[in-house]
Amino acid sequence: MITITVCVGSSCHIKGAREIITRFDELLKSHSLEGKVELKGSFCMERCGEGLNWQINDEPLTSLDVEDAVKTFRDRVIEAAQG
Ligand code: FES
Repeated sequence: MITITVCVGSSCHIKGAREIITRFDELLKSHSLEGKVELKGSFCMERCGEGLNWQINDEPLTSLDVEDAVKTFRDRVIEAAQG
């Protein structure tokens, strides 16, 4: 199981955290990977100034915008979960 944690604190929320979760969820469903990847929200990760913050398991990631996060998710999570 891969755990994805998306910061939904106010700064990340304004930058599109909700949309990231929606887009990640759609990708998991379209690839039938809901049972392999868990999506969670988290309070502020205390990296607000850096961009949209989220994690793959314990690895901290920062994305510039929603599309950047979706690209990383496709490359890192969808590929890994399918393998
Ligand atoms: S609100 Fe996301 S890191 Fe602070």
